[in-house]
Amino acid sequence: MNADSGSVLDVDGVTVRFGGLTALDGVSFGVAPRQVLGLIGPNGAGKTTLLNVLCGFIRPNEGRVRFAGRELTRLPPHRLAGLGVARTLQGVGLFAGLTAVENVMVGANCRASAGFWPALAGLPRSGRDERRLRAEALEALRQTGAAAAADRKPGELPYGVRKRVALARALAARPRLLLLDEPASGLADDELAGLADLVTQIAAQAALVVVEHHMDWMMSVCDSLVVLDFGKVIASGSPKDVQADPAVTAAYLGADGEAAETGTGDGAAQNATGERAAVNGAGDGARDNDE
Ligand SMILES: Nc1ncnc2c1ncn2[C@@H]1O[C@H](COP(=O)(O)OP(=O)(O)O)[C@@H](O)[C@H]1O
Ligand SMILES: [Mg+2]
Repeated sequence: MNADSGSVLDVDGVTVRFGGLTALDGVSFGVAPRQVLGLIGPNGAGKTTLLNVLCGFIRPNEGRVRFAGRELTRLPPHRLAGLGVARTLQGVGLFAGLTAVENVMVGANCRASAGFWPALAGLPRSGRDERRLRAEALEALRQTGAAAAADRKPGELPYGVRKRVALARALAARPRLLLLDEPASGLADDELAGLADLVTQIAAQAALVVVEHHMDWMMSVCDSLVVLDFGKVIASGSPKDVQADPAVTAAYLGADGEAAETGTGDGAAQNATGERAAVNGAGDGARDNDE
């Protein structure tokens, strides 16, 4: 896709190498305004790396990313916040020493100052600024259903509530492009429907790129899917088309062929996906420490 197709986000030929490893290999796709694009693929496929490129943490070796007509790939991350790009991290990534509302105030402050890190360093600037930021942060916490946790520190909160606080922090920046890395991971089944509603609600105001392993949840939330395997796009399109794509099933089956005996078509793809999700979930804890 390109700017002519009505995309607000255009990813064009993005390649990222870590030493000898090619984590992303000529990745291209577009995201239309108010569209929820899902990014899926087996563990290690390059999903988090791609989000890191989209938010400016990683500069690609080749290719470019354009958002709302601006080339992002040349800008430092703090400039991207000013352009309306926000993200949540795989895991939670809240500041342990700040209360929930203070964590969200950092997000709200991104708009007012030059970006995330200056926002953090500059809190609070004046009594009036602080009251305004606090009101905006409380509003974002209400939107994600975590207002009751406003004055608690992350360590005192259940995992699901911490994820809502992290989402509120991203929302408080009033993003035009919101990047969510595994928003459903670690949530209880009864929290997933609420999260889906919230994502749909956010999509009225922003384009979203979501990385998540819960296939059923992704099918219900995403307008389109891009499937990565070993850094390459192996399928893209509507969730229904992608789920039925044999290349996708094959990628998820990977080395262990045993999932093939669970059946053909959609069922097999879902079972395989579930297995990879379980494998990945076990590794998340270790990775959180890096982020
Ligand atoms: N900072 C890094 N340095 C070296 N290799 C990395 C780095 N980040 C990711 N990788 C590697 O790049 C590949 C893609 O990783 P990642 O984007 O985290 O995949 P996913 O999020 O799809 O599980 C993996 O092989 C991973 O080990
Ligand atoms: Mg990842």
